[in-house]
Amino acid sequence: MPGLPSFYHACLGDRHIWLWQQFQVYGNKFRAAPNVLLFNTPEAWNSLFDIKANVRKPGFYDAWLRNNNDLNTLNCTDVALHAKKRRLLNLAFTERSLRVWEPFVTKHTDRWNQLLPGEKREPGENKLKVISHFIAEHMKSPSSPLLELILCLKSRGLSNLMELAMPKNIKEYSKIVQESAHLLIIAGSDTTTNMICAAFFYLTHFPRAYAKLVNEIRETFSSPGEMVYGQALLTDWKYLRACMDEAIRLAPAGPSELERTVLRGGATIAGDVLPEGVNVGVVHWAFNRNEEFYGGDAHIFRPERWIVSDNPADGNPEEEVNRVKRGLHTFGKDVGNCIGEKVARLSLSMTIARTLWRFDVRAAPGERLGERRPELGWGRRDRNTYMLRDAYIALREGPILQFKERGE
Ligand code: HEM
Repeated sequence: MPGLPSFYHACLGDRHIWLWQQFQVYGNKFRAAPNVLLFNTPEAWNSLFDIKANVRKPGFYDAWLRNNNDLNTLNCTDVALHAKKRRLLNLAFTERSLRVWEPFVTKHTDRWNQLLPGEKREPGENKLKVISHFIAEHMKSPSSPLLELILCLKSRGLSNLMELAMPKNIKEYSKIVQESAHLLIIAGSDTTTNMICAAFFYLTHFPRAYAKLVNEIRETFSSPGEMVYGQALLTDWKYLRACMDEAIRLAPAGPSELERTVLRGGATIAGDVLPEGVNVGVVHWAFNRNEEFYGGDAHIFRPERWIVSDNPADGNPEEEVNRVKRGLHTFGKDVGNCIGEKVARLSLSMTIARTLWRFDVRAAPGERLGERRPELGWGRRDRNTYMLRDAYIALREGPILQFKERGE
């Protein structure tokens, strides 16, 4: 039986805020549904996603199978089969393949930059724009009270019958992905867009960080052509990398938890001995704002928290940076973590760096889309927080920005 409050907030799209509120009231452990225990501590991350943890993905991942042939690493709940599929998929995500992705990413970033000055925009409807809404419809099924019925019909080979009853949006989405790679569309497209939008939102709302980043980019490179991904990202692009980590911390592409089910024999999660069948998770949105872990400014966009500084004025020793880095799991952790993290970071760093080299960017005056507002209540008052809607993946609107070519 799903927890009704949890389902209610999933329908409203604010489940991540509701979960954050519950942690403020009940402490770092909370029962979100009769069978779901959620944590808000680094210890829970470590024990739950440890390679030896006696857990696996819960049955609701099966609800994402479009049909019986649609098994992939993301929706596969069998541990051994997942490992086999993952070994195969790893072949497409080596360092070498990343070098093949790079020209593709830079070509599209440059094209987007070319289109930014209004008149050159392409006319017509763009089907890709609506994909995120279709994905959200598709991903929402696990939070449905009808989950058990859906799984029962699927397990009896009645996927075809279910396809007939599918909402129009999900049918349309299935049609789009029929000839493409379904897994990579779900896992890689909207997640990356979310990260790019969040980074622009925070940079345009925190002028000090914006100025520092623009300075780094324009002083390091004499043209966008010099920007090459690789080791440089860690050395020359220190502040860019820190801005990226800060944006994915504050706007995780999956705001709620990645649940896992305890298997026969039980499991000890963050010191709690749990019996078989309990679903357990750590909520990204709440943990990434946990003041016990990040300190009193956990809600603020402060990229410096990711950079070692021995300066006594703003001292941030290496151990502190390593500690927070060990707690950032927006890309998942260990078993089943994100295979596309480097591709996503490549896309984000190229988009931000090339765009800020060419354009001055600011939030359009008077436009507040994407901001939270005082009247929205607890956990939603701060205008400098990017508003996400939780549809298992994050949906968002805005920000509305103005781009002015440098030297114009
Ligand atoms: C900001 C961008 C991204 C974020 C935050 C993100 C996050 C995640 C997370 C949290 C998971 C674990 C899901 C789970 O356990 O249910 C995951 C899995 C996955 N991601 Fe990403 N992702 C991003 C971009 C990408 C990109 C660009 C690709 C591919 C091009 C990709 C491919 C995958 C795949 C294939 C999996 C399944 C891996 C497995 O189960 O073994 N992701 N991602």
